[in-house]
Order: sequence, then structure tokens, then C-alpha cells
Amino acid sequence: MIKRARNKSDPSEVTTLVDASSGPRHVAIIMDGNGRWAQSRGRPRLFGHHAGAKRVREIVEACPDLGVEYLTIFAFSTENWKRTQTEVAGLMSLFRRYITSQARDLKDNGVRVRFIGDRVKLEASLIKMMDDLEALTADNTRVHLTVAINYGGRDEVARATKRLAQDVAAGKLDPDGIDEETLPKYLDTCLLPDPDLVIRTSGEARISNFLLWQSAYAEYEFIETLWPDFSPEVFAGVVEGYAGRDRRYGGVRNA
Ligand code: IPE
Ligand code: IPE
Ligand code: MG
Repeated sequence: MIKRARNKSDPSEVTTLVDASSGPRHVAIIMDGNGRWAQSRGRPRLFGHHAGAKRVREIVEACPDLGVEYLTIFAFSTENWKRTQTEVAGLMSLFRRYITSQARDLKDNGVRVRFIGDRVKLEASLIKMMDDLEALTADNTRVHLTVAINYGGRDEVARATKRLAQDVAAGKLDPDGIDEETLPKYLDTCLLPDPDLVIRTSGEARISNFLLWQSAYAEYEFIETLWPDFSPEVFAGVVEGYAGRDRRYGGVRNA
């Protein structure tokens, strides 16, 4: 198998093409199916979101043994504001509760937490908690957990383009020098390597505006399991399946 090896001290630097069957360094997950999981039990959708939130810690904790250094999870999309006010408010309150209850454990377990997405639309109290958790865990390196809240790939590219254009207008950036290495520096994910594997639970085979730029060459796995049923064993199975894939990046194996 051909896999790109990256220089670990600089995640964005692709150093060479190598023959490898190692696991994914960065896994991104579209955590879908909470609502259906609850509804199939005759319970309200928020019951499913609470069950889903409980899964997150187990999946984060499973990462080091699987060789996964970066885990990025889609928690709330720019499109999810279309849901009922009850569901949106319930999700925001769940995020606050989750941060409060998990902050100390995340810090002590070596998890570095980052948030991506547009914070402007979020409540000030939640933004403060997100900033504080990022600061609290800033020195951790065991697992890099990135949580996407009010995140949309198109919105991210639009916001990045705006800042890029501002730099051009200010004379800080020469338009002739813009290439495909330039835009990622303006994305929310500028400090992360691209995902190697994107998993979506719940059987939907779409990406719903997640990491559009970054996943250009990701491997995808769409699985039927609903997110609240996504156990570390299921996760391990998907990660093991990745090792059998042939990533050619447009090239030819053994060329
Ligand atoms: C994913 O589960 C979680 C969020 C989008 C916040 P859903 O809430 O989309 O669950 P389904 O797809 O309706 O079952
Ligand atoms: C994607 O799931 C967003 C998150 C998992 C946070 P959705 O359930 O919102 O996506 P669609 O509506 O099925 O495309
Ligand atoms: Mg859904």
C-alpha cells in the first residue's frame, strides 16, 4: 500500500510516499443517528444526544492504542440551527454540561481540545467555556481532540477567503503567490493534518458539509451503526479496515 508519511513535527509537511499499512493518524467522525436511536426507543431526540455524548470519551480514550493522534468530531453543523428551538437549546446546554463535567479528566488524560467552526453565533457563556478548555489543555499532546461546533465546510472556506482577501488588501499577501498551500493556513484547521479517515455513522452516505477542503484525499467509511451504539470495538474494526486500503493520491502503486 502507498501511504503518505508526514513529518510529525510539522503536520502539514508531506515528506515522502512510502509503502505502509499503518493506521490512520487523523480520524474525523460525523456522529450521526442520535435522533433515530432515541426515537426507536420511544424517547425524545435529546435523549439520543445525551447517549451520544457519553460515547465521546470512550472513543477519545481508544485513540492512543489504535495509533490515532488526531480525532475530529462533528457535533453541530451550520445547518443544524434549522432544528426546533428545543433541540438546539438542548444541544447547547449539553455542550456546556459536557465541557464542565469533562474538563478536568481531559486535562489529566493528556487530551488537547480544540474547537472549529464559527463561534460568533454561539452564546457568550459557551464561547468562554470553549476558550477556557482550549487554554486548560493547551500543553497536552497524547490525543488531539477537535470538536466542530457551528461548523460548515463552506462557511469555513468563505471565512478563510475573507481573511485572505483582507491580507491582500492590507498588502500582507501577494495574490501571485497564492497556491493550494495558502488557503489552508486561513482555515480553522490550520494546525491540524488532513484527515486520513472520515467515518459517518447511521447509514447516510453523505458528508453534510464536513471538512470539505481537508478531506480531498481522505478515505471514507459509512457504517450503519447509530452513533450512541458506536463502541470502541466498532471503532477499532473500522480503523483496522483502513489499513487494507490503497491510497494512491492519483499516482500509481509501485511507480
Ligand atoms: C447527529 O444525530 C447529531 C447532531 C446532528 C447534532 P442526529 O440528531 O442528526 O440524528 P438523526 O440523524 O436525526 O438520527
Ligand atoms: C451532520 O448530521 C451534522 C452532525 C453530525 C453534527 P446531520 O444529521 O445534521 O446531517 P444531514 O441533515 O443528515 O445531512
Ligand atoms: Mg442526522
